[in-house]
Amino acid sequence: MLKVPHPFDALMDITARPPTVFVRGEGSYLWDDTGKRYLDFIQGWAVNCLGHAPSCVAEAIAAQAKVLITPSPAYYNAASLKLAKALVENSAFDQVFFANSGAEANEGAIKLARKYGARHRGGAFEIITFEGGFHGRTLATMSASGKKAFEPLFEPKVAGFPKAKLNDLDSVKALVNDNTVAVMLEPIQGEAGVWPATDQFLQALRALTCEHGLLLIFDEIQTGMGRTGKLFHYEHAGIAPDIMTLGKGIGGGVPLAALLATEQASCFEHGDQGGTFNGNPLMCAAGLAVLEQVSKPAFLKAACDAGLFLESELQKLSARHGLGEVRGRGLLLALDLKLPMGASLVAQALEAGLLLNSPQPDALRFMPALNVTREEIGEMIDGLDAILTRGGAARRVA
Ligand SMILES: Cc1ncc(COP(=O)(O)O)c(C=O)c1O
Repeated sequence: MLKVPHPFDALMDITARPPTVFVRGEGSYLWDDTGKRYLDFIQGWAVNCLGHAPSCVAEAIAAQAKVLITPSPAYYNAASLKLAKALVENSAFDQVFFANSGAEANEGAIKLARKYGARHRGGAFEIITFEGGFHGRTLATMSASGKKAFEPLFEPKVAGFPKAKLNDLDSVKALVNDNTVAVMLEPIQGEAGVWPATDQFLQALRALTCEHGLLLIFDEIQTGMGRTGKLFHYEHAGIAPDIMTLGKGIGGGVPLAALLATEQASCFEHGDQGGTFNGNPLMCAAGLAVLEQVSKPAFLKAACDAGLFLESELQKLSARHGLGEVRGRGLLLALDLKLPMGASLVAQALEAGLLLNSPQPDALRFMPALNVTREEIGEMIDGLDAILTRGGAARRVA
């Protein structure tokens, strides 16, 4: 029997975590069990688009919990019907399937594409994905991901995900064959270190997939719900994919995700897809509260302005310390550190009461709440500036 000498030991040890235990959150701040306050520029991994414990989400969940938590996925419920309608009205898609995590939504997208291949493309099943891409941690989504660290894990892999290079159309063209049914990508590769696909590349992919009768699938789990300054990233490129997945921000902190498809691509038949908690009213009520806020033009404009401010402040910081480029869009930005000092900066920031993420050893990623204020951005920049000044006088530009 497993002994439990310390409270941490009752949880499976699946990642290196600092010994901090969080007990409360409000807006851009978190508090640990010693009362220490932290400014949070991770926000649950780009999840809390309205910050911690937003009252509209808390109230929506509380109100829904008092009337109906789940009637069974075998029946319709009012909250999921309302949220599906609102998502369809605000996007280029006709139908929605709700899921509980990003990986599950992507698993659904992969199944939908394979179903489409079976029905319309003579059994084609290959989905071209990208080196560096990240689509989740189920077996199929790990195979769809182009993350090096996944390669030796959990063999044998799910087959059918040849990898192209981001922003290299020829590498995609070279992989298209009779078995190809779709191309799937994140418009900005978040976990790989915030590497954007150019708008021209996305437009060229749309043209290529149309030419060959292939589905274009956007994984907007990180980029969707206002993260890049538009409700959905595909709007920047003036094109629309056939399938899109959403997660993270869609629930404002609760486990909700969605698979959206155009009428033509939406080809599941009874028995193909489902799940006990999928589309449960409790999570959908949270999703409705989030979408109501995030889809407001004034909210998106403010998020866009905050993103531009953060970008320019990061550029100034970079120039002061001789660091590299700032990349990304809206409030999904990365700072190139030029050196593998991400983990050390993250640890020093934690000590100083600032939560930062380093998706790659030589980069920091910034994904604050979409309603982050200029003052909070200034506070984060000052905190990071102090850490860089302390540790890197030699790197500073004279
Ligand atoms: C682009 C992208 N797709 C899929 C996922 C997986 O989502 P989840 O962790 O909710 O399964 C993530 C998570 O980081 C992501 O960033």
